[in-house]
Amino acid sequence: MPFAYISQALAARRREGLLRQRVLVEHACARTITIAGKQYLNFASNDYLGLATKLEVDQLVHTEAGSRSSALVTGYLDVHHKLERKLCHTLGYEAALLFPSGFAANTSVLKALFTTQEKQSSAAVFQDKLNHASLIDGGLATDAKFVRFNHNDLTHLRSRLEKTKAEHKLVVTEGVFSMDGDTAPIVEISELAKSYNAWLMVDDAHAFGVVGENGLGTVDTGIKPEILVITFGKAMGCQGAAVLASQHVIDYMTQFNREFVYTTAISPIMASVALLQLEKLLQASQARDKLSGNIEYFKKLISATNLSPMPSDTAIQPLVYGSSENVLAVQSKLKQQGIWVGAIRPPTVPQNTARLRITITAEHSIEDIECLVSALAEVS
Ligand SMILES: Cc1ncc(COP(=O)(O)O)c(C=O)c1O
Repeated sequence: MPFAYISQALAARRREGLLRQRVLVEHACARTITIAGKQYLNFASNDYLGLATKLEVDQLVHTEAGSRSSALVTGYLDVHHKLERKLCHTLGYEAALLFPSGFAANTSVLKALFTTQEKQSSAAVFQDKLNHASLIDGGLATDAKFVRFNHNDLTHLRSRLEKTKAEHKLVVTEGVFSMDGDTAPIVEISELAKSYNAWLMVDDAHAFGVVGENGLGTVDTGIKPEILVITFGKAMGCQGAAVLASQHVIDYMTQFNREFVYTTAISPIMASVALLQLEKLLQASQARDKLSGNIEYFKKLISATNLSPMPSDTAIQPLVYGSSENVLAVQSKLKQQGIWVGAIRPPTVPQNTARLRITITAEHSIEDIECLVSALAEVS
């Protein structure tokens, strides 16, 4: 029967406790979420600074709905240019390109970078094993040799770089790992990459806005990767992404990045919102301080329980429960106590490492965090 595998695949997911389902959210903010008429404390959002709130109507009143074409035809508007320039100025890059999502940015940049007339036997991409699906997919979609190194393991990366004969080498990592919450040793990775004449690409989706002295993520470490990706859907609280690089690389992307060339330029509404949100994010030092305090408080409380969180100092604080059944059972008990936390299961995370992905935000109060930790201690 045609496509019989669809029902088989769904049945297998159900049987293994791995079926993914959307929940219909009636209302949400960084602190609370309402689902099926019930309000929960929300520990499952990426709105780390609480910026994804309602906008004032007059902020968008003169904004047009659509860009009317791709950026290379007539879709590249003043607001896109302003947003790109603001990002370049803030992060210290020559040029930037906007994308409708971080997923599109990551996959397409990797595909374009290794898609030239030149034969690809001389290219290799080195990726951290825990890199986001979009980076993995992009790397696998090229003819460049795809090499994975153990998570944050500099010795392993060095040995991989040592062995390669490729001329064009790219090391790819994340500023903050989305499912583990730990940070990459960016300074050391950058030095290592340089010593092997490799370029560095960093996906700062979960770092931009929240990590570093000024909340700028990787560039706050003093490192400027050859390619930096930031996404607008996490701390910026809206949607879209930008790729920052030298003018030379952005010129190349403008020719060869198919997701950029063959798509409608992002809506001027989205670009205007991103510009507004970027301003808010840059001025959100109080929220960043509050977030740091909340993370520290969570870590202090959890360390006094018999639970073992993963080693993370960021807003992402996962607790591993092993099997999918275990994590779903804990998630469901937390719901009964009025707490919403995401349960992340394979294949998003490795087998036997199903986890609660707890995310702390600046909007949580001390009492919210106390409530979370005491519920976790009770139901785990
Ligand atoms: C590390 C990382 N990179 C990229 C993305 C994709 O970003 P976007 O949600 O804008 O597609 C995500 C989001 O899930 C992510 O966690």
